[in-house]
Amino acid sequence: MSPAAESLTLEERLGEFFRQLDLRRFHVAAGHAIDALALARTFADRIASMTLMCPARLSAEPFRTFDTRVLLIGGDRGPNAPVVPELLQNLPHARAVRLRDHVDAAWSDTVADRREEVASILLEFLSDVTSREAVPEIHLEQGAAEVAGITYRVRGSGPPLLLLPLSLSPSQWDPIVDALAERYTTLVLGGAFLGIVPTLEARMRGGYRNVVQNVVDAARPGAGESIAEIGCGSGAVARWLAHHTGGANPITAVDVNAYLLREAAALSESDPTAQRITYRQGDAQALPIPSDSFDVTLTFTVMEELDADRMLAELVRVTRPGGRVGVVVRAVDMLPWINVDLPDEVRRAAERVAGAGADEHGCADASLYRRCAGAGLRDLVMGPQYGADTAQRSPERLRFFAGRIAGGLAAEDARLFRDSVRRATSDGTMVWAEPYHCAVGTRP
Ligand SMILES: C[S@@+](CC[C@H](N)C(=O)[O-])C[C@H]1O[C@@H](n2cnc3c(N)ncnc32)[C@H](O)[C@@H]1O
Repeated sequence: MSPAAESLTLEERLGEFFRQLDLRRFHVAAGHAIDALALARTFADRIASMTLMCPARLSAEPFRTFDTRVLLIGGDRGPNAPVVPELLQNLPHARAVRLRDHVDAAWSDTVADRREEVASILLEFLSDVTSREAVPEIHLEQGAAEVAGITYRVRGSGPPLLLLPLSLSPSQWDPIVDALAERYTTLVLGGAFLGIVPTLEARMRGGYRNVVQNVVDAARPGAGESIAEIGCGSGAVARWLAHHTGGANPITAVDVNAYLLREAAALSESDPTAQRITYRQGDAQALPIPSDSFDVTLTFTVMEELDADRMLAELVRVTRPGGRVGVVVRAVDMLPWINVDLPDEVRRAAERVAGAGADEHGCADASLYRRCAGAGLRDLVMGPQYGADTAQRSPERLRFFAGRIAGGLAAEDARLFRDSVRRATSDGTMVWAEPYHCAVGTRP
């Protein structure tokens, strides 16, 4: 990517992508709030239909213009279950489908788990809109390429259908791309600027990095000691760790999600120190790694998403006796701290808007400390920490954080909240902090 392309905004990037591929009118299916909002706000005249797949909380306003051309798909259980019914209140003409008995969370693998149901709902909706709206067919060369930092894979022919990344879903759209490609020119978009990747990267540029660093320092990796990061996502922590340790430690980064591992490998490619990280696919609850493999085993905001006790037992197993295990989880039992000027009741409502939540067997609270002791770790260093950010230091993170809160407030409260964030940003006092529980212990 040219240096000029490095500094583009998401909207500029998407605009350049549409220009170079001559995409004038298309269907969109997205899962990540920031992408969907950017598209709806800036490119509404090009969008024939908008499908929101298991979205987290986001503002309904930009989607009102699509009227009946919106499809909302969500599950009836899990942290995101209330989102589709809430959106429907403000998008009364949208088509909404609640998948029965489906856990809806940022990490759900909805398309893989409900493949036929999702394919048929989406195909029926797209065919209905295509019959009412002019969506010309296009013909693009099949295969993969990149424009303005957006990677894309083309399959099929017919009217264009843009498939944007689905948050932390391991299979993304892959299980139904073939079915969709029989009738549409599918473009599967990815890269460092779409989906959860920029959100994870931005978090690690902000106050979260201090939380990570404190845990790494407490785990005391000595020169040459092997380090594993389990649930590495886009590799933001692993790349930082490679630099923090001056390349003196072998680092293995593991994730279950093939899409995120591909993005992580791509991000490491241009960085000689990070090139030495070994990325591996594996399930944290049953690691494909022999016992006693690492001197230091770390994990950051992963235990929320799975069976925490099984994962902790695996972290202990793959760490050698005398080695250290470090864990960070989001703290849903603590409130975020937000430095904005708001009436008390609006502030309380803002602080209580639920975040990504946790799996039924996951850990996102102070039970981490009991679990670590129960897993047999000794000499525990434990406690909550806040990752503090400012609008100047973390503008992308603010967009995500404030967007989520505004999306969970009543309309008038959301307006007051947005105004207060704008005021604090312009007078240089926009500071906020998100809570985490942290623990480091030694394997006996
Ligand atoms: C919120 S991200 C955190 C990524 C990274 N640790 C960071 O702090 O930037 C959670 C990560 O856990 C991974 N994950 C979830 N379930 C997993 C499992 N069963 N095994 C391995 N990784 C898993 C997800 O794919 C995702 O990359």
